[in-house]
Amino acid sequence: MTLEEKNNKGGVALTEATKTRYNRIAPIYNIIESIPEQFFKALRKKLLAQAKGKILEVGVGTGKNFPYYPKGADVTGIDIADQMISIARENAVKLGLSFNLQEGDAQDLKFSDNSFDTVVATFVFCSVPDPIKGLKEIHRVVKRDGQVLFLEHVRIDEPVIGWIMDRMNALFVRMLGANINRRTVENVKKAGLTIESLEHFGPMKMVKMIIAKPSKTIEAVGRDQ
Ligand SMILES: C[S@@+](CC[C@H](N)C(=O)[O-])C[C@H]1O[C@@H](n2cnc3c(N)ncnc32)[C@H](O)[C@@H]1O
Repeated sequence: MTLEEKNNKGGVALTEATKTRYNRIAPIYNIIESIPEQFFKALRKKLLAQAKGKILEVGVGTGKNFPYYPKGADVTGIDIADQMISIARENAVKLGLSFNLQEGDAQDLKFSDNSFDTVVATFVFCSVPDPIKGLKEIHRVVKRDGQVLFLEHVRIDEPVIGWIMDRMNALFVRMLGANINRRTVENVKKAGLTIESLEHFGPMKMVKMIIAKPSKTIEAVGRDQ
């Protein structure tokens, strides 16, 4: 088993550990992220301008995307960490938004097949323990003519830097709950989604903006049990 596979292996224990880490980080999350956020703001704005219809945001965190949704957007947001959701709720109130925010696991979404026009995930698939399972769940709940909008940091596929990222990954997971060596573009494809657009940002193009479409039929969505 490769290092990445070891780190990515799903399971209840890893999901609980992720929840515990983000609950611990929640009170300082916006502070930790304040510097990169200066750069991410413009990317969030660009991505979320495309959100439409009934929207699901997976791994909503503290609600950093909220100011960028189109006016009147119909948003349901879920996150594994109840402390992150609490901050997201406060943020929504401050912004005068009546979003439906609830605790939930990306790997086991409590929504019917084909139920959202747009699914959004920003900087989430670095931390979901079994990313392909989570991406398949997104694939299942998005409508067949819907869209999935991602912003994710990924492993840099350069021999030395990639190697260093793999070695440093466990430390980042322990400190921040985030894997720095995820291959999310490949994982989106593995979940059966079709990438319509892929843009690269940041140092060594490590931030990806991905717009993906689901399969034409729900039967084509491979589900993990
Ligand atoms: C790095 S934060 C990003 C938060 C937010 N999307 C943003 O752009 O600022 C990752 C978020 O994913 C959530 N998360 C991790 N695993 C999850 C899972 N299995 N299901 C739902 N949310 C999850 C974490 O609790 C955390 O809030």
